[in-house]
Amino acid sequence: MERRVELTLTLDPKSSKPLQAQVFDQIREIILDGQLKAGMALPPSRLLAERLRVSRNTVIIAYERLAAEGYVKARGTAGLFVGPIPPDSLLLIQRGSQPLTNGPVSEELGEPLLCFAGSPGGGGDRPELDFWVGRSDPGAFPIRIWRRIVSRLLSQETAYLTDYCDPAGLPELRTAISTHLRRARAVAVTEDQVIVTTGGQDALNLVFNLLKSHTRQLCIENPCYLGASLIFRSTELTIHPVPVDGEGLRTDLLPKDRGSLLYVTPSHQFPTGATMSLSRRLALLRWAEETDSYIVEDDYDSDFRYDGPPLTALAGLDGGRRVFYVGTFSKSVGAGLRIGFATVPRMFWGEARMLKARMSNGQAWLEQAALAAFIDEGHFDRHLRRLRQVYKARRDCLVTALRRTFAGAVVIGGDSGLHLVWRLPPGFPPARQIQVMARERGIGVYALSSGAAYDFHSNAVDNMLVFGYSSLNEIQIKKAIAEIQEIIQ
Ligand SMILES: Cc1ncc(COP(=O)(O)O)c(C=O)c1O
Repeated sequence: MERRVELTLTLDPKSSKPLQAQVFDQIREIILDGQLKAGMALPPSRLLAERLRVSRNTVIIAYERLAAEGYVKARGTAGLFVGPIPPDSLLLIQRGSQPLTNGPVSEELGEPLLCFAGSPGGGGDRPELDFWVGRSDPGAFPIRIWRRIVSRLLSQETAYLTDYCDPAGLPELRTAISTHLRRARAVAVTEDQVIVTTGGQDALNLVFNLLKSHTRQLCIENPCYLGASLIFRSTELTIHPVPVDGEGLRTDLLPKDRGSLLYVTPSHQFPTGATMSLSRRLALLRWAEETDSYIVEDDYDSDFRYDGPPLTALAGLDGGRRVFYVGTFSKSVGAGLRIGFATVPRMFWGEARMLKARMSNGQAWLEQAALAAFIDEGHFDRHLRRLRQVYKARRDCLVTALRRTFAGAVVIGGDSGLHLVWRLPPGFPPARQIQVMARERGIGVYALSSGAAYDFHSNAVDNMLVFGYSSLNEIQIKKAIAEIQEIIQ
């Protein structure tokens, strides 16, 4: 029999957090606490809206997000019910006893810095119509606003150009980043957990260097981001490549040994585009807790989500214990800025800040100050809203062109980010062969083991082609797909 419960929520209309986010957070918390169990029904949205004295839309948006993240499921017209996952055992993860205090600062981090020559995504001899992954539209940089902010800063605050700033990054920027993360990704961090870095790659290096003395083996999703694989492969540590499928990393195949460091892209797996399911996210956190392991969550392109509300990051579920979150402004503002960041559990803050000081003693002031103003003054949100529309139209154009040209084309991973994957039907040439033939015609498309992606198993099934669509306009996209049709025929 269906069990409906009363939900006791307390909303604060004066809070800067939108009402729908308050409703979402509180119901999610009730589910995670185990008060709402699998199979129980949520109250109808109209009823809850009346009780809370909010608009029905507010409740509907919160419900949609709960459904998108897998907490509840619709059963026809009967309403929304708490899903079979997460089972109670998974829910205990966040309730551990480790205190969230500052940890000791170790002096043991004397190893030389890891580095590699040449950016995996960088320049070179690129084809004319290039679906290289993760490149912004060349005209996307908000140059007029940026120029205004920079010239204002230079006329007011030049003293900062002759001084050092905090090695962890400019406090205003760290505050702006933590506010954005809390709001957009449900990652509850404060500015004293954020380290500003030279792009996401530097953040990955920072986290790796920070944790390597705690690490016995490395785990990485396979296929994966080349930049992460380069860092991992430059060490003597054993690497466990863990396969991915349509739900992201196969958590059942993670090694049970203690002391792993895992690299993962749960929101939009690089390169397959899969979104990791909630049950796997929770299984991942439980695995980390049970094996005393740490996770690097690379959330490189999640500012772009086109269908449905944003998904809570893994770091948001973890509650600041075992997940190091890595972000970048390379996709959202511009890779030339070279600004990214890592968030660290409080326990590691002192060590991380000291390591950053040793690596580079902080970041350039002007870009950080300009970016902080750009975010604080609301330009960043507006810029993202505009770009989401542009990139969504390109994504739609690509999906339509593929489906029209190759009847029934299976396209995956297009809900978010800046790339998607076309799974080639049986009888088509292998992806690598299409990549080579396309290249001869001036078109860049990429198999899962090429471009900015890396596959630890060279004999993997080669039937997926990756398309980064953000830097090509609709005319170019249609032209490229028509050419690919000719190539394949
Ligand atoms: C999956 C992934 N992670 C991290 C990055 C790092 O980006 P950057 O170093 O340009 O900020 C990229 C860049 O393309 C990426 O694709």
